[in-house]
Amino acid sequence: MNDDIRRRLLECPMEIQGRILSASNATLHCSLDEDLAAVYKPQRGERPLWDFPTGTLTGREVASFEIDRALGFGLIPPTAWREDGPAGPGMCQMWVDEDDDARLVDVVAPDAVPSEWIPVLRATDGIGNPVALVHADDERLQAMAVLDAILNNGDRKGGHVITDVDGNVWAVDHGVTLSVEPKLRTVLWGWAGTAIPTQLLTAVESLHGQLMDGAPEIERWLDRYEVDALIDRCASLIKYGTFPVPNEDWPAIPWPVF
Ligand SMILES: Nc1ncnc2c1ncn2[C@@H]1O[C@H](COP(=O)(O)OP(=O)(O)O)[C@@H](O)[C@H]1O
Ligand SMILES: [Mg+2]
Repeated sequence: MNDDIRRRLLECPMEIQGRILSASNATLHCSLDEDLAAVYKPQRGERPLWDFPTGTLTGREVASFEIDRALGFGLIPPTAWREDGPAGPGMCQMWVDEDDDARLVDVVAPDAVPSEWIPVLRATDGIGNPVALVHADDERLQAMAVLDAILNNGDRKGGHVITDVDGNVWAVDHGVTLSVEPKLRTVLWGWAGTAIPTQLLTAVESLHGQLMDGAPEIERWLDRYEVDALIDRCASLIKYGTFPVPNEDWPAIPWPVF
């Protein structure tokens, strides 16, 4: 199913329907054929950042998709590179329809944390009321936390965790990933320091093996040092077998959290 969607993302004519105003880059909503819609980020619409080479963010989105695919997690919606996009070359990713009531990450009053959910941070809202950042204790989010550790994801906001109308969980927005510097910044700290479940570690071992053999679909988007750093992050997860803990030298939680 995903391979068919990938093919359609690569081949079908794209029509721009609108711009997502909350986005920091030129992020466009497009229709392709029939029922298929997509997020399209043209490379030339990237907002320059101090810590990433300009023009590389859209390629990092495709690399992240390829890494998720190599892990077998299926968390990142099918994503393709369109050389012939209507606003120039860029990434094109299947649009998923979000079910707002099925969120797995939330900000709630401290006495309203859903049972079985994990509090990550206590803070105060804009008018001084205490709030808690919480996420579900859900194995799909555990896989996402492992994916983010591998991607070195610098921006896993709550809004980048989407539950669709069929109950599937998706991860979006992987432009600021795969740096050689540690930049993990996420709302999914609920398992920090605890053991990674065996089946997730097996997936990391498989990805590590694929990278050691050479994985051109991943490597073509990265420089050599970034590929080496990716391999090192996989090796370190395998060696320690635990979810990462926040790095004192880097803000651990994205702000705003959504
Ligand atoms: N594949 C997708 N399906 C549905 N919504 C998406 C998808 N990708 C992004 N979005 C929505 O669009 C918003 C902006 O996209 P994002 O990837 O965060 O752009 P930017 O790179 O500019 O930060 C996201 O917060 C999310 O709500
Ligand atoms: Mg974003």
